[in-house]
Amino acid sequence: MVNDLLQRIHARQTTVGIVGQGYVGLPLALVFTEAGFRVIGFDSDPAKVAALGRGESYIKHIGADRVAAAVQGGRFRATGDFDDLRTCDAVLICVPTPLGRHREPDLSYVVNSTREVAARLRPGQLVVLESTTYPGTTDEDVQPILEATGLATPKDFLLAFSPEREDPGNPTFHTKIIPKVVGGVNQASTEAAVALYAAAVDRVVPVSSARVAESTKLLENIFRSVNIALVNELKMTFDRMGIDVWEVIEAAKTKPFGFTPFYPGPGLGGHCIPLDPFYLSWKAAEYGMWTRFIELAGEVNTHMPHYVVERTVAALNEDGRAIKGARVLVLGLSYKEDIDDDRESPSYEIIELLRERGAQVDYCDPFFPVARPGRRHDVQLRSIDCDAGAFAGYDAVVLSTGHSQFRDPALYAQTRLVVDTRNAVRLPEGATGRVVKA
Ligand SMILES: NC(=O)c1ccc[n+]([C@@H]2O[C@H](COP(=O)([O-])OP(=O)(O)OC[C@H]3O[C@@H](n4cnc5c(N)ncnc54)[C@H](O)[C@@H]3O)[C@@H](O)[C@H]2O)c1
Repeated sequence: MVNDLLQRIHARQTTVGIVGQGYVGLPLALVFTEAGFRVIGFDSDPAKVAALGRGESYIKHIGADRVAAAVQGGRFRATGDFDDLRTCDAVLICVPTPLGRHREPDLSYVVNSTREVAARLRPGQLVVLESTTYPGTTDEDVQPILEATGLATPKDFLLAFSPEREDPGNPTFHTKIIPKVVGGVNQASTEAAVALYAAAVDRVVPVSSARVAESTKLLENIFRSVNIALVNELKMTFDRMGIDVWEVIEAAKTKPFGFTPFYPGPGLGGHCIPLDPFYLSWKAAEYGMWTRFIELAGEVNTHMPHYVVERTVAALNEDGRAIKGARVLVLGLSYKEDIDDDRESPSYEIIELLRERGAQVDYCDPFFPVARPGRRHDVQLRSIDCDAGAFAGYDAVVLSTGHSQFRDPALYAQTRLVVDTRNAVRLPEGATGRVVKA
């Protein structure tokens, strides 16, 4: 069976199904299409299926021209009809893995899409889970659903885990050139999954099991979460001592070995770093282990929006203004600069905390003309214009996202107070306002 699949992969005769056409699934679909495969993108959201059908991209940093070319080339189509899974030789699952209300893993998307796959599973298929999750998900949660059909791996089908590594908006790294770690639940599965990815991406890194692959992704994200927490804590400490953490980091960066720069901010955002580490802490408890670094990093990072608001209150106070009734403008809803992704963005919490203190809050973000309701927040606001005149009407401007547009000094010609969480603001010559780093 494996040999047959390998031959078909080599000859580009395999049809690749990708379940979930979001930030991870869509670029992956394009990479396989561009490598010469027939690709079917499955999504439960009819609006996304319709947009892809028209050859449109709903994610700004994924060019509409690539989607249009893939659709027009006739090798890529999107559908909400899971019966088409039957025609796929490989099925890659890229659905969300959020946290529940008590910060516990919510595997419902993975389980639901695996059930869709199981209902159409046929001998010879390769299934790969890509969603970030705790070690053991592929063999303890996914495999039993697939094997409940009566088919077994590796005899009838193959099963692996391969984590996605995306850095949205990064012009240097994209799906094709980012090395792909792959681990199967058995050797035959690893072999088949390695062959599939090697046909589409530049470098594949096989590991000994799905669990190692799952853990690799968690290590990468926990590494970021812990280091960001460290610089956030140092920011607050140095700030109390009158030392600029940004200048310290720039100086430390000149060390040619043994130091990796991380930058402080208003709190964590995005689908990965604020959530994924807790998948491991939840699973670790099953083994009687307490992942203290993860918890501590979570505690420091989730405090940051509060810190930014405290700094804003104090700065307004120095100007003789109360936060109650103050007009405050928050710059940026995206969780990082120059992308249109606002998932888990700390900006929403900052807006809500400022409102709780009685401030009148507006926001400006060219990527979000209207603030969308999210899982936890619904601020019901529209973006104000991004110009100096509009900014001048506020008692404080809080920069939460370092979008390129916000780096123009001219924007701050008439602002009274800027609270800068990203070291992004420079005042133009002659400006009378001030910048407080937070
Ligand atoms: N966004 C990133 O930068 C990134 C990076 C690495 C890993 N990941 C991981 O990849 C996974 C997917 O993340 P994402 O950012 O692509 O999420 P996303 O929300 O952008 O996309 C998920 C898509 O799956 C669809 N979907 C949900 N349930 C479905 C179902 N049962 N059947 C078919 N489609 C379904 C949704 O409509 C959505 O379009 C997560 O586990 C995430 O942690 C994300």
